[in-house]
Amino acid sequence: MEKKKVAIIGVTGAVGQEFVQSLENHPWFKVTQIAASERSAGKDYLDAIKDASGIVAWDVGGEIPEYIKSMTVKKIDDLDVSQLDFIFSAVESVAARDIETKMAANLPVISTSSAYRYEEDVPILIPGVNDEQAELLEIQKKNRNWKGWVAPLPNCTTTGLAITLKPLLEKYGAKRVMMTSMQAISGGGKSGVSAMGITDNILPYIPKEEGKVRTETRKILGKLKDGKIEDADIRISCTCTRVPVIDGHTESVFVETSDEIDPSKAKELYKSYNENISVEGLPSAPKKYYAFHEDPTRPQPRMERSVGGGMTTTIGRVEKEELFENGLKYMLFSHNKKMGSAKGAVLLAEMLYKKGKI
Ligand SMILES: NC(=O)c1ccc[n+]([C@@H]2O[C@H](COP(=O)([O-])OP(=O)(O)OC[C@H]3O[C@@H](n4cnc5c(N)ncnc54)[C@H](OP(=O)(O)O)[C@@H]3O)[C@@H](O)[C@H]2O)c1
Repeated sequence: MEKKKVAIIGVTGAVGQEFVQSLENHPWFKVTQIAASERSAGKDYLDAIKDASGIVAWDVGGEIPEYIKSMTVKKIDDLDVSQLDFIFSAVESVAARDIETKMAANLPVISTSSAYRYEEDVPILIPGVNDEQAELLEIQKKNRNWKGWVAPLPNCTTTGLAITLKPLLEKYGAKRVMMTSMQAISGGGKSGVSAMGITDNILPYIPKEEGKVRTETRKILGKLKDGKIEDADIRISCTCTRVPVIDGHTESVFVETSDEIDPSKAKELYKSYNENISVEGLPSAPKKYYAFHEDPTRPQPRMERSVGGGMTTTIGRVEKEELFENGLKYMLFSHNKKMGSAKGAVLLAEMLYKKGKI
């Protein structure tokens, strides 16, 4: 089988580096071109990822894959789109708008940026949660007269929340949600949070994050009807904070449901969803989509971030919530750079490939 030829754009950033790792020896996709800003263009990849003091900043951990080290980083305009099947975009969100528009005119774009998430004809996809919304991509392509489309993932804080709410919404009717996040430093990108700001500290505010979580969760859990997404009828309140953890977001969640639920029913629910996950068997899918713990000391970022190669969503501290007539509280862990961005985007590409969309 000939592999699909892909480019990673925004390849030098925190998520770009994770893409490089996730696509090493991929059975279906081959990275043939890479691009970033003018600051990096023309340099070998190893040079382009050096920080201001000339030190190679490889955020992923482990070895930098050989295939990428001497590949030249291009300017976006120098990409040869005629030699590509599709694009992974990890470009900073403001610049992403124009860049993804230009790219989608010719090719499918799978994106971790927020540039297109809130457009009516654009689904926000989490493979395994709302695969059926991928049908909207065809409508988007026609509407915009493009040869490709843009398929964004959600914000990395939305990912774990939407994944854990989906079964609760479908089976018990989730109505209202309160969430507080404890988000990792890497979620802010390679220059997002200063060391002085985050060491021995908690930052109680992440610009624009809470609005993103509210809007995106309702859209993802909505239904595609007559070519449009009808948002899920859930009210969401959230507080997003940044904590001194390198990778992986932890969230404390309170959910009010229509029907009565308790921890043992929740355990059964996630177990039955694990047995029927659409992405099962895809190269980047974890063995278990959900990990459910009764041990009250889980989830912990250091323990959970490698589970399922960073693609498993962990749920723990599940208790009946007495504030509501029916409801639960729980904590979740989701890896922001794996399931929450780059590797999740690769899983999305695998799902779309299987559906014949790329
Ligand atoms: N970090 C996460 O956990 C996470 C999770 C989900 C989604 N996201 C989203 O994913 C995207 C990338 O995030 P990140 O954390 O990797 O950010 P980052 O570390 O700041 O990296 C940004 C990337 O965009 C490139 N870029 C910036 N301006 C550009 C331009 N004008 N033209 C072309 N390339 C340009 C940068 O290239 P240079 O190195 O050359 O400047 C770099 O490769 C963002 O949209 C972010 O919101 C991030």
